[in-house]
Amino acid sequence: MKTVYVAIMGLGTVGGGTYKILTENHDKIASAYGIDVRVAKVLDKDLDKLKAAGISADVMTDKLDDILNDENISVVAELMGGVEPAKTFITKALKAGKSVVTANKELISKHWGELESVARENNVGLYFEASCVGGVPVIRTLKESLQGDNILMVMGIINGTTNYILTKMSDCGMSYDEALKEAQQLGFAEFNPTADVDGYDAMYKLSILSSLAFHTCIPYTEIYREGITKITKNDIASGKQMGYTLKLLAIGKREGNSVEVRVHPTFVRNSHPLASVSGSFNAVFLKGDFVDDVMLYGRGAGARPTGSAVVSDIVYCAGKNKHEHTDFVNNGKVAEGIEIKSDFSSKYYIALTVEDKAGVLAKITDVWGKNNVSINSISQRDVADGVAPIIIMTHFTSENAVQRSIAQLSKLDCVKKVDSIIRVID
Ligand code: NDP
Ligand code: HSE
Repeated sequence: MKTVYVAIMGLGTVGGGTYKILTENHDKIASAYGIDVRVAKVLDKDLDKLKAAGISADVMTDKLDDILNDENISVVAELMGGVEPAKTFITKALKAGKSVVTANKELISKHWGELESVARENNVGLYFEASCVGGVPVIRTLKESLQGDNILMVMGIINGTTNYILTKMSDCGMSYDEALKEAQQLGFAEFNPTADVDGYDAMYKLSILSSLAFHTCIPYTEIYREGITKITKNDIASGKQMGYTLKLLAIGKREGNSVEVRVHPTFVRNSHPLASVSGSFNAVFLKGDFVDDVMLYGRGAGARPTGSAVVSDIVYCAGKNKHEHTDFVNNGKVAEGIEIKSDFSSKYYIALTVEDKAGVLAKITDVWGKNNVSINSISQRDVADGVAPIIIMTHFTSENAVQRSIAQLSKLDCVKKVDSIIRVID
């Protein structure tokens, strides 16, 4: 039996889950894969925390050198989060000849190329299944399945915190703040939850997933991003009345050398499979030119599901004699010949507050018409204090045309407020 010594850096939510699985399922892993995985070191800032978690004195440490200088350790799991010092720690571990497993999507999306080069130069591996969609094996699927296909689309719900918040607001009438607090208590949210609710986390993940799907570097800086902080209970209720569920979607599409990548709240028709993905569950659709749709579903965050993905990488890495390296990450730059589209096409839900008087609808529809935006329906909600909430649903139209129309509508005296602009999929 092969014995593999592992170090865990960061015993928080994911590190804790990883340690638990490696301890509780040690014998199963050994018998199924012939690998005796032993945790040789656990590093964290706070030794008392490690002691309280039952880590023995010879295993616990707060010094990176204890890991780097331990020649037995061949795999290091970085589960601290953030860019620094994680990047420095990982680089030193790779240079010391240790393979690295990480759940850190921010770091991978920002420095993948650089870290992959260090791994290649030192003949060690860099693995990050846990960085995207928690326990769902989407990275392995993209790297090791579907070889026969050109992937045309990767689309899904890839952030557990925002899906939990939107589900609780929609199904239980919970406030945004209460739902966010629960997501933090359950260990789904990032250290700074702005990363989740403003869409950064989904943007980092989409950068990694679309790069793997389309075999070309899709820098996170090229991704259109909108979070859920402006979403109101009214939006959710209004969507519900029309048969839609609100989700934060990440969408990547490739057509020839043109790529479209975006993260934003979306009304999803209730009959669509993504509409029923609730709580901390995530789901990703991959569309290949031959296989057609593949849907992966599971828990996108939390100690146990994410720990499961980390352990999967540890065992996978431990079983390899030679590590493969991604060759297209291009130090975070778009490859020559690839165009990232700034405009895209969608259906839209637009909520406006307008004056309740004759001729207002004509003025509004005139603006849409002049911008070539075709309206599917207009409805007026209850009038109060001389103003009327209007809901407009468009047919497929261009994002630029919608933004141009909104800018012109905002200048009309009869338009008191543009309340919401939400993309729609049926
Ligand atoms: P936590 O904050 O729960 O855990 C991080 C741990 O690392 C804490 O114990 C922290 O200590 C410790 N730590 C931070 N910096 C250092 C340092 N410089 N030296 C030593 N220890 C340090 O985070 P999570 O477990 O939630 O997340 C870890 C990583 O996993 C992140 O990259 C995150 O994006 C990713 N991830 C998280 C998921 C989740 O569901 N939570 C799912 C998928 C990925 P202290 O608390 O004292 O700061
Ligand atoms: N904060 C992340 C989320 C953790 O909520 O999805 C999983 O990557």
